[in-house]
Amino acid sequence: MNPAKELLNTSFLLSLLVFRFCISLDTISPNQPVKDGDILVSKGKTFALGFFSPGNSGRRYVGIWYNKVPQQTVVWVANKDNPLNDTSGVLSINGHGNLVLNSQNRSTPIWFTNASISTTNNSMAQLLDYGNLVLVLRDSQRVTWQSFDYPSNTMLPLMKLGLDRRTGLSRYLTSWKSEDDPGTGSFSLGIDPIGYPQFLLNKGATPWWRAGPWTGERFNGLPEMNHSPIIKASYVNNQDEVTLMYNVTDPGVFTRLVLNESGIVNRFTWVEATWFVVWSDPKEPCDMYKECGPNSYCDPYNPDKFQCTCLPGFEPNSTRNWYLRDGSGGCVRRQGVSVCRSGEGFVKLARMKLPDTSIARADMNLSLEECRQECLRNCSCTAYTRADVRRGGIGCLAWHGDLVDTRIFSNAGQELYIRVDAVVLAQNSKKKGLIRSKKILAVLIVSVAVMLLLLVSIGYWLVMKNKRGSRRQVALFNDDTNGAQSFLRDFAKLDETRRKPDVQYFDLSTIVVATDDFSLSNRLGQGGFGPVYKGQLANGQEIAVKTLSKSSKQGTEEFKNEVKLIAKLQHRNLVRLFGCCIHKGEKMLIYEYMPNKSLDFFIFDEIKRKLLDWRKRFDIISGIARGVLYLHQDSRLKIIHRDLKASNVLLDAAMNPKISDFGLARMFGDDQDEANTRKVVGTYGYMSPEYAMEGLYSIKSDVFSYGVLTLEIISGKRNNYYHIGSPSLNLIGYVWDLWMDGKALDVVDPSLGQEYPTHEVLRCIQIGLLCVQEQATDRPTMLEIVFMLRNEGTVPSPNKPAFINRSYKTNNSGLDSSSSKGPPTSLNELTTTMPEGR
Ligand SMILES: *[C@@H]1O[C@H](CO)[C@@H](O)[C@H](O)[C@H]1NC(C)=O
Ligand SMILES: *[C@@H]1O[C@H](CO)[C@@H](O)[C@H](O)[C@H]1NC(C)=O
Ligand SMILES: *[C@@H]1O[C@H](CO)[C@@H](O)[C@H](O)[C@H]1NC(C)=O
Ligand SMILES: *[C@@H]1O[C@H](CO)[C@@H](O)[C@H](O)[C@H]1NC(C)=O
Ligand SMILES: *[C@@H]1O[C@H](CO)[C@@H](O)[C@H](O)[C@H]1NC(C)=O
Ligand SMILES: *[C@@H]1O[C@H](CO)[C@@H](O)[C@H](O)[C@H]1NC(C)=O
Ligand SMILES: *[C@@H]1O[C@H](CO)[C@@H](O)[C@H](O)[C@H]1NC(C)=O
Ligand SMILES: *[C@@H]1O[C@H](CO)[C@@H](O)[C@H](O)[C@H]1NC(C)=O
Ligand SMILES: *[C@@H]1O[C@H](CO)[C@@H](O)[C@H](O)[C@H]1NC(C)=O
Repeated sequence: MNPAKELLNTSFLLSLLVFRFCISLDTISPNQPVKDGDILVSKGKTFALGFFSPGNSGRRYVGIWYNKVPQQTVVWVANKDNPLNDTSGVLSINGHGNLVLNSQNRSTPIWFTNASISTTNNSMAQLLDYGNLVLVLRDSQRVTWQSFDYPSNTMLPLMKLGLDRRTGLSRYLTSWKSEDDPGTGSFSLGIDPIGYPQFLLNKGATPWWRAGPWTGERFNGLPEMNHSPIIKASYVNNQDEVTLMYNVTDPGVFTRLVLNESGIVNRFTWVEATWFVVWSDPKEPCDMYKECGPNSYCDPYNPDKFQCTCLPGFEPNSTRNWYLRDGSGGCVRRQGVSVCRSGEGFVKLARMKLPDTSIARADMNLSLEECRQECLRNCSCTAYTRADVRRGGIGCLAWHGDLVDTRIFSNAGQELYIRVDAVVLAQNSKKKGLIRSKKILAVLIVSVAVMLLLLVSIGYWLVMKNKRGSRRQVALFNDDTNGAQSFLRDFAKLDETRRKPDVQYFDLSTIVVATDDFSLSNRLGQGGFGPVYKGQLANGQEIAVKTLSKSSKQGTEEFKNEVKLIAKLQHRNLVRLFGCCIHKGEKMLIYEYMPNKSLDFFIFDEIKRKLLDWRKRFDIISGIARGVLYLHQDSRLKIIHRDLKASNVLLDAAMNPKISDFGLARMFGDDQDEANTRKVVGTYGYMSPEYAMEGLYSIKSDVFSYGVLTLEIISGKRNNYYHIGSPSLNLIGYVWDLWMDGKALDVVDPSLGQEYPTHEVLRCIQIGLLCVQEQATDRPTMLEIVFMLRNEGTVPSPNKPAFINRSYKTNNSGLDSSSSKGPPTSLNELTTTMPEGR
């Protein structure tokens, strides 16, 4: 017989076998055991039970897997620590009504269930359609045992994790030993009931990662949790149980939570023949338990800074270790001033992962103010916060002892009130007062500027109405007519687009379908306010969906109005906003999709930067200027972008630059919470000094960022990550030095070759340097920049730029940290939000 025929024959036999055993029986009864080779299939054919060998192992296990998923995906294993060496296994109901797995040559069972069953003759086991194997009494239908109570490494929908306080049964996931061995591995994930219950991942007996306590909608340290609209998590904490369960609104969606052998929790969803990882945790060093020692917090968002920071009122336990960037020793309270009945108080930190709650206590009857008083009364109380963030906050959660394992999130977490002594308290409120007055000043300056611009624009508009393109009016700006005319054309264009139809409101279902349930494969990256997804509408239109966290205090109506306003901003150098989607506080913005991604993909890439010759780069520099000008000058909105950077400049198919994320700063406000410590929102390297240091922003902060961007486009180098010989120099400083030496052209990206008009490049460098001058008043306006770019009028000589003496990339240790991490890829480049008063 030839081998092919043999193969054919075998597979025929196999299919016969499969046919023989797959007769869709979903029960095991005393006279219907399951032998190796038999397969039990649940009624809806979703799950199957049988014998299997994992990975490359030859050993046999009884398990449950997805029947409809071609690649065998095991979700539960019975005899995980006691495999069979042969195919002699039989799973049956024994004389006591329990399930038992026996092997031919062994007198003792390999595995058995241990349910106490009084009537022995009517037990049966059934595989249910949601993956649960239950042992039930036939007459009463009472469940005496279920596989969901003894999970393996997988949490399925409708499975409960946690503690049943009546029976003492604790359900938790345990990792496999390896891909080939489902035996009990070293990691376990469950709800730790000690103190105030929290979701905890242990390695052996020591904590590895904490998702934190349940704060009403999710675990405090697991921001991804409530993200998918199709998954509903429910948490119960009462005298009977403390458990977590989740359910999918669409039973056709296969999703599972798996604790893998490396101690990482992954949520998978089955989409288009693949398991996609929707999220996984822990994902960065700051997530790891006690990455920074007691009384300090971990801040991953500033690549230049040591990630550990002492909580207010604390100082490093070992200054030396701290200096050597070892934060494990944590911080101790500053000596000298007592925090017990000597005028102490609390300092609020925002967006925090709450400290380990094993030493915390909750009282759901207290308001936040009562919580504060209660904590103040007891000198051992170190911090407090609300226990449940819903409905403005319910209950009181207070810590007694060291505050362990906290971090700061960019747009998740919650506020935490830290007990501090009178001195720190005074410093803090003084700082706040100062900031407040500065803020008032900033608002004043901005409003005056806005008023002036308004007047100018009204003048403009009147003039335009009377005589479009009239020479007389053009003279208002510049002697040259060409530039001004095309500038006026820009405004005329704006007038047309204003009459376009209103924004669209999208249903969540439309967005879910368009993005394949926010699948990982559609994830374009992380924006400053949440992940961004690619999608395709039913009509084929490609979209980008920007999800916004709930952190905005804006009400839904206000948000809609804001979107309406911003969607009306249309300009060829702004990304088009189609509309938004609002679902139970989740807000999303729907933009046109840009196939060429963002500018940083090109200019900072060795290969791709060659695609941008000088003409293209000049067009991009000019296009960005026009886009920002439009934002600054539009008479109704006056938008200051506040986060202008290469990754926020997208490129369309023809490589035209389009600014994205405009209006977000406006939508989210500057200071969402009155009592909140003030935040500076922006990205290091692009922030103007007055903004980075004092939180003052104006159109001139955008001009600064624009200058940095221009220099980056010309040089192909990041301002942030630039070291050449002298590590204290950033790109700005380097360009300035060359400029002073009359060698400015040395900075030009070598991949441009020699083919560029030197006068034009020099002019752009000069404009870039003008924009990054230390004094905001010295910097040109965007209008002036647009004219200068067109070679209209003289370009003044720049003064010394900001940040060249006092580089924020300070020393060698800074160098080490950035080179070990490498430059961030643009999609992951986070917009930094840092607490004031570092
Ligand atoms: C399988 O083999 C191993 C070692 O060869 C032995 O320790 C184990 O008891 C065997 N298991 C069974 C179920 O026979
Ligand atoms: C089981 O026992 C039979 C008879 O004693 C023997 O022939 C067979 O090899 C044994 N099987 C295994 C896997 O040990
Ligand atoms: C089975 O349960 C009984 C009582 O419920 C207990 O004494 C016994 O240790 C259990 N056996 C196993 C293997 O869990
Ligand atoms: C189980 O046994 C009891 C008596 O021991 C009998 O009354 C009952 O009918 C039996 N049930 C079944 C399903 O055989
Ligand atoms: C889970 O969701 C499905 C579909 O929405 C619903 O029919 C079912 O009752 C839910 N189950 C539980 C236990 O909430
Ligand atoms: C565990 O999951 C992480 C994240 O998805 C993955 O990178 C890692 O390779 C996985 N480990 C194993 C052993 O599969
Ligand atoms: C500070 O360091 C000392 C000695 O290294 C150690 O015993 C102590 O526990 C540390 N304090 C804290 C709060 O970790
Ligand atoms: C909280 O209030 C409820 C009803 O108002 C009361 O029954 C309960 O005992 C209170 N709990 C505590 C801890 O005071
Ligand atoms: C302070 O709180 C701790 C822990 O809750 C408690 O043991 C202690 O009795 C309290 N002290 C006072 C004075 O209430």
